[in-house]
Amino acid sequence: MSVMWKSWGIRKTCSPGRHVVTTPRLVLRSPTMWELRLVLALGSDGEAQRRLHWAPEDVIPEDERERLVTAPVGRGRGRFGLPGPGLEAALLAIDPALGLPAGAVTLTPESRDRCELGGYLAPSYRGRGLGAELFAAGLALAQHHLHITEVRAAVEPANTACVRALWRAGFDPAAGPEKYVLPDGHVLPSAWFADVTPQPAWCEGTW
Ligand SMILES: CC(C)(COP(=O)(O)OP(=O)(O)OC[C@H]1O[C@@H](n2cnc3c(N)ncnc32)[C@H](O)[C@@H]1OP(=O)(O)O)[C@@H](O)C(=O)NCCC(=O)NCCS
Ligand SMILES: [Zn+2]
Repeated sequence: MSVMWKSWGIRKTCSPGRHVVTTPRLVLRSPTMWELRLVLALGSDGEAQRRLHWAPEDVIPEDERERLVTAPVGRGRGRFGLPGPGLEAALLAIDPALGLPAGAVTLTPESRDRCELGGYLAPSYRGRGLGAELFAAGLALAQHHLHITEVRAAVEPANTACVRALWRAGFDPAAGPEKYVLPDGHVLPSAWFADVTPQPAWCEGTW
């Protein structure tokens, strides 16, 4: 039986294709197909794009971004509807106290038992150590919901907040290519982090 999370209509248990992870200060769930632009909006501001360098068509314009990131999620159309195409291995982070979107974490498969993690917080949720919870949730999604053994992450060494957040989430420094090509073609120096579990698992919501 599903348990509802506070009044925001967020289920606490997984069902097929829809995963839920909780951390001390965040509730994270699979985004729906209606939430793709919200997931992009949360990392479309200038500060995040200086790190993430997305393709121009994925960066949400400022007026739409403001509207999306300030509106409560968890209710309304597509609240917990169909998983978004390409978003099945992502989590939308929600601040359970306010019902506001707080960030997103994504997993990109590299092989059957290995994936690459990426993520970002909404501007107003940065600077309070929530990145560690966000990345720990991504790790849990991979290793305890999707049966993935190894999770890797690339980070620009100068991005101290991200390096610290990965480390606090349980990642350790790992070997990897020294350069990373970002979606808009920028090439940046990269440090690598990884976590390997001896006991990957599927959750009850997996087909
Ligand atoms: C990366 C990100 C998720 C980290 O978020 P966060 O947890 O809010 O980060 P914080 O500002 O709380 O910083 C985390 C840690 O780094 C430290 N830190 C942050 N900036 C620092 C700096 N310039 N110099 C030294 N230490 C710094 C903080 O003091 C904190 O230290 P702690 O681990 O001892 O508590 C967030 O900054 C973000 O979304 N950035 C934009 C997108 C991005 O960079 N994504 C990651 C790409 S790899
Ligand atoms: Zn699950």
